Amino acid sequence: VAVIEPGLLGRVAEFLPAGGALFVVTTEPVRRHWGATLERGLAGRAGAHLLELPDGEPHKRLASVESLANQMLERGADRAATIVAFGGGVVGDVAAFLASIYMRGIGLVQIPTTLVAMLDSALGGKTGVNLAGGKNLLGTFHHPRQILVDPLLLNTLPEREYRSGLAEAIKYGIIGDPELFQYMAANVAALRQREPGVLERVIAAGLRQKATVVAADEREGDLRRILNFGHTLGHALESATEYRHFLHGEAVAWGMIAATGIALRLGRVNEAEAERVRRTILALCAPLPAVTIAPERVLACAASDKKAHAGRLHFVLPRAIGQVEITSEVPVETILAALAEL
Ligand SMILES: NC(=O)c1ccc[n+]([C@@H]2O[C@H](COP(=O)([O-])OP(=O)(O)OC[C@H]3O[C@@H](n4cnc5c(N)ncnc54)[C@H](O)[C@@H]3O)[C@@H](O)[C@H]2O)c1
Ligand SMILES: [Zn+2]
Repeated sequence: VAVIEPGLLGRVAEFLPAGGALFVVTTEPVRRHWGATLERGLAGRAGAHLLELPDGEPHKRLASVESLANQMLERGADRAATIVAFGGGVVGDVAAFLASIYMRGIGLVQIPTTLVAMLDSALGGKTGVNLAGGKNLLGTFHHPRQILVDPLLLNTLPEREYRSGLAEAIKYGIIGDPELFQYMAANVAALRQREPGVLERVIAAGLRQKATVVAADEREGDLRRILNFGHTLGHALESATEYRHFLHGEAVAWGMIAATGIALRLGRVNEAEAERVRRTILALCAPLPAVTIAPERVLACAASDKKAHAGRLHFVLPRAIGQVEITSEVPVETILAALAEL
């Protein structure tokens, strides 16, 4: 369901459903940079409405969903309407949630504008908003009818947001696509310069990898957890710093390095592969905000995370580039040592 093409936004009308009104949900920065291109791409299509969600993670909450729904109703949105999520993961999650419940569910198109959204949140059908007590605690599953990716949109993304997305991209290589890993390692400079052709290939490979895992998971149940590579300790780093010190992808970059350190200590991966993994992550994502929290605190946060099952922490560990395993058998000293090394 994904179309990936530099310049796609400028002729987006041909990829959108022909009937029904369109409700484009976006944020102010995205509208400022890309609103005019979108308008040109819509080619004067009748019945297109632009709705703005105030920017930032704090607005990913139920009140925003209700407010957007009210605006849609005022403008006459019925069951034939389609919601277009035009933004990063916050817009994607809120707009998709809204699409899944507005009049018991209407069509959704994702036009992701951050690398994280292009590689991750636009695909897979997870929608959601946060509660005061935690992230993504209210949500539904609702798959988009289309995912439209224009790598040129990344040109205006703030540098840290962009690099943070590269961490999620290399994750797909490490968990299951050695060719993607090689390609990214060989194209570090082009990636850092956001070359659209290189990005097109990386995004396509990443989405293919996620789609494969998600599709297999619908049958098998547990496979989706490999997508959490780097996330057990990454989430812990984020929550230990109240989500203020690291962007998600930056924390995941450290989390992947720590998981690789654990695998090395347990003899599950060899030194040369582990070193390539660490070197490539840093080449793509550095400079990363320093880890200044005590390993014991990070571990305590990991243990209280909702992903800890029955008190046991699960880790996705690399065996080799392109191959991972899930284990809950990691001694506490090994986790602490790998964290201390960061
Ligand atoms: N549903 C899923 O499967 C899934 C997966 C991963 C992440 N998420 C969610 O995604 C969210 C994070 O998404 P994100 O990292 O995209 O952050 P974000 O949506 O907050 O976007 C980051 C910032 O970049 C701005 N921006 C977006 N596109 C831009 C562009 N092209 N040019 C300039 N500025 C632009 C945004 O307005 C925002 O200020 C989290 O809430 C997370 O829970 C969901
Ligand atoms: Zn992630």
